[in-house]
Amino acid sequence: MEQNFVIRNCGLEQLDEIIDMERETIEILPQPDMLRRNSLEMWRCCLQPPHRCTGVWVGEKMVAFAVLYIPLEGSEEDLSPLLLHSVDTPSANYKICIVRPEWRGNHLQVLLGRCLEDEARRRGIRVLCSTASPKNEASIRSLLQLGYSYDQTLEKYGFERNLYYKML
Ligand SMILES: CC(C)(COP(=O)(O)OP(=O)(O)OC[C@H]1O[C@@H](n2cnc3c(N)ncnc32)[C@H](O)[C@@H]1OP(=O)(O)O)[C@@H](O)C(=O)NCCC(=O)NCCS
Repeated sequence: MEQNFVIRNCGLEQLDEIIDMERETIEILPQPDMLRRNSLEMWRCCLQPPHRCTGVWVGEKMVAFAVLYIPLEGSEEDLSPLLLHSVDTPSANYKICIVRPEWRGNHLQVLLGRCLEDEARRRGIRVLCSTASPKNEASIRSLLQLGYSYDQTLEKYGFERNLYYKML
């Protein structure tokens, strides 16, 4: 069915809705280690500059969102130093994407990934990093469709994660 998806940036006014979507998503995960729960502090951070959270709305309802996260160099969130394919250029993370269950199947992770990529390019970022659980086939397919390359499988956030990168 053709849908009227509206893309808008999110701010702190979306905090409650986003936490609600995260809770709803975690409750129905096929495997509990597929997604880590973010702290309230992390969500507040993601919803404010320099980070960028972009959402998709259908009417009044936000049905999906994703985050471009600009890590502080050397912080635990900085994925680029972990890359086997070493890079020495400004990087950021395609950190998280959640699509409400009833709206999956519309490639919204790819759509949001493209928007956030454009934003990253505008900021002079040349590498995007992302992780996905090896069990998360939908997320892996989306990252590959966005043109990310697989780097390695490692332990991150206490879970097994595939690390991906994309040169912009
Ligand atoms: C991962 C997620 C964001 C993808 O949502 P989406 O953009 O609607 O993805 P789609 O359903 O359009 O699927 C993308 C691709 O994966 C495939 N896919 C979807 N679910 C799948 C599954 N369970 N097994 C295998 N392939 C699957 C789709 O067929 C599609 O492939 P195609 O392009 O070849 O047709 C969504 O599933 C989600 O919110 N999951 C929970 C949160 C999460 O894991 N986020 C990602 C990590 S941050």
